[in-house]
Amino acid sequence: MEETLTYISKNQNRYINELKEFLSIPSISNDPKNQADMRDCANFLRDQLKDIGFQQTKIFPTNGHPIVFGEWLGAPGKPTLLFYGHYDVQPVEPLELWTSKPFEPTIHQGEIYARGSVDDKGQVWMNLKVIEAYLKTQGSLPINIKVLIEGEEEVGSTNLENFIYSHQEMLKSDAALISDTPMFKHGLPSIGYGLRGLAYFQLDITGSYHDLHSGSFGGAVINPNFALAQIILSLKDEKGRILIPGFYDDVVPLTTKEKIEMSKLPFNEKTFCKDFGVPKLFGEQGYKTLERIWARPTLEVNGMSGGFIGEGSKTVIPACAMAKISMRLVPNQDPKHVAQLFENYLQNITPPSVTLKMKYLNGGKPWITPIDHPTIQAASRAFKKGYGTTPVFIREGGSIPVVAILAEILDIPTALMGIGLPDSNTHAPNEKLNLTNFKNGTISIAHFFDEFSSSVSN
Ligand code: BES
Ligand code: MN
Ligand code: MN
Repeated sequence: MEETLTYISKNQNRYINELKEFLSIPSISNDPKNQADMRDCANFLRDQLKDIGFQQTKIFPTNGHPIVFGEWLGAPGKPTLLFYGHYDVQPVEPLELWTSKPFEPTIHQGEIYARGSVDDKGQVWMNLKVIEAYLKTQGSLPINIKVLIEGEEEVGSTNLENFIYSHQEMLKSDAALISDTPMFKHGLPSIGYGLRGLAYFQLDITGSYHDLHSGSFGGAVINPNFALAQIILSLKDEKGRILIPGFYDDVVPLTTKEKIEMSKLPFNEKTFCKDFGVPKLFGEQGYKTLERIWARPTLEVNGMSGGFIGEGSKTVIPACAMAKISMRLVPNQDPKHVAQLFENYLQNITPPSVTLKMKYLNGGKPWITPIDHPTIQAASRAFKKGYGTTPVFIREGGSIPVVAILAEILDIPTALMGIGLPDSNTHAPNEKLNLTNFKNGTISIAHFFDEFSSSVSN
């Protein structure tokens, strides 16, 4: 163990140099233009797994982007860990707001700037390098390990559920490990025990075959932009409460214990506002900010379009309008059920003078796990050793669809050991990975393998 930890510390520079190569591949999953890059990225990872010393490696094509798999099963009698990560990244627009190019990784003041640096390539790399360190220094790992890295997380993991369903024997493990979440605060290691789910929709509203002269037709027909605005206003009241009938029925309230733990976390609303340039917070009445982010469902309009937005003026009634609407879900809401409730409600609130088409784009289930599970406790001890600080247990506002799938199909718990930060700029310009966190993360993961080895009796 000591030797492995020394090796990890000594090799940090090499790790980062290699990571730069991984980060240079523009693996943007939502853009068909990057399809070849996605394949390159999957191949790059597979080669890496081979170099590290995985006994089996394989690329599985899907209807979308390929899945990379590897296994090292040289520790008979020891538990098996399934490491999950994603090699796809978010789009990079608006490009002009980046200080360095998103796919030309640049180190500046202890951070590496690049799209994917923290979400999730950097954190995948951190785990792979620990596996490498064990195999290089000891010729073995204290556990068996399977690695599953997908290329469609940022677009809702659409092909993953079927894949996991049809490869249950191959993926059979005792627990999963994921590094794809932010820490609560710099220097405070955090273990996620809950994730929100997601249901994502597109609404298309049509009024007429084509745009109409607003003089000849204004007054006789509805304006689709107005119809859309009316629909959107009927989705939530001024108190931030979602108006879809039945929407809250399956929401599990926070326990008193959770509320107490939450109130102990170092959270300051004023600093939060200042950090992100928000004049005043807004959210569902009757709940504190962290409760709203972690334990309450939300409904957002991600974007909308319709009609004339060019220079100057044009007198027109647009033929159509569009909105992208998503809901973050909490245990025990189900995305498919919520979609049904939404569709029913839309039928009631859509003015009869337009045609509405609702499309379910993607989604994922919420997840929560008891924190006294041996795997979660092993993660806690590992973070304590890696950071010298006792970690906090937090819920997360974001979504990682695979976690609920793993619980449901493989019946395994997941330890969320992420080392992102609130200011990592994930999904935004100037995404960055803190190199101190990368280092402490590698050391923590090395300890986790060791702690996990003795935490599960086989
Ligand atoms: N790494 C994030 C998930 C995350 C973000 C967890 C913040 C906790 C806090 C992941 O890559 C992500 O962005 N997921 C998407 C999933 C969606 C497309 C189904 C998300 O949350 O929007
Ligand atoms: Mn991610
Ligand atoms: Mn993401």
